[in-house]
Amino acid sequence: MRIVISIGGSVLVPGLSKDRIEEYAGVVDQIIENGHSVGIVVGGGRIARDYIEIARDFGSNESELDQMGIAITRVNSQLLMLGINHKFGQLPPKDYESAKQILQQEGVVVMGGVAPGQTTDAVGAALAEYTDADLLIYATSVDGVYDEDPKLNPNATRFDELTPGELVEIISGMEMVAGNPAPVDLLASKLIERSGIKTVVIDGSNPTNVLSAVLEGEYSGTVINSDGK
Ligand code: UTP
Repeated sequence: MRIVISIGGSVLVPGLSKDRIEEYAGVVDQIIENGHSVGIVVGGGRIARDYIEIARDFGSNESELDQMGIAITRVNSQLLMLGINHKFGQLPPKDYESAKQILQQEGVVVMGGVAPGQTTDAVGAALAEYTDADLLIYATSVDGVYDEDPKLNPNATRFDELTPGELVEIISGMEMVAGNPAPVDLLASKLIERSGIKTVVIDGSNPTNVLSAVLEGEYSGTVINSDGK
């Protein structure tokens, strides 16, 4: 299988720790050992937000802030690459064509953000579409897509299965709300709808959740599939 995994910065680098990076790198190693090819997209996390906040205080415009965020996602990618048991010959690719070529040649690619005005949620969906992935996984800080923010409302209900159209509808509603609780953003949702790639949103705070989702098809989260299953 060809799998794209979007690892949120909030779960890869909740705080910067070698152990955590090694845990995720170990998961990637095992997926490769099981014969899958894998594209990884890494987020920025708290560190990116801290940099962006300070730069915003200095008066940087939003595009400059996005470039700073992208730089942090690339640094996080480099750290993960160091932990993976594969000799990468280059820095993380900056575009999908290069990523596809690396994936075809080496069976594994790790990248961060690519362009201002979006997040790595969209990069994950675009990479999955570009490489005709069989499965797209979002390892986030929430175990699926909920009707409300489960961190604020303990009675929020999780959707176990959604069609891509339903996902777009739910995320559109959430993006209108302050503090937007969407685990996957609208652009990513639209790309998922367009490509029709089976997508799973799971809690990535335990990296082994990603492993069971890929190797055993077992997970607790939300699956987005054309038939809603
Ligand atoms: P993230 O994808 O980590 O954003 O990229 P996020 O959604 O704020 O983080 P999580 O999911 O909560 O961890 C970090 C920042 O990098 C910029 C954006 O500013 C984003 O907020 N970025 C990232 C881009 O501008 N373009 C990209 O393609 C990726």
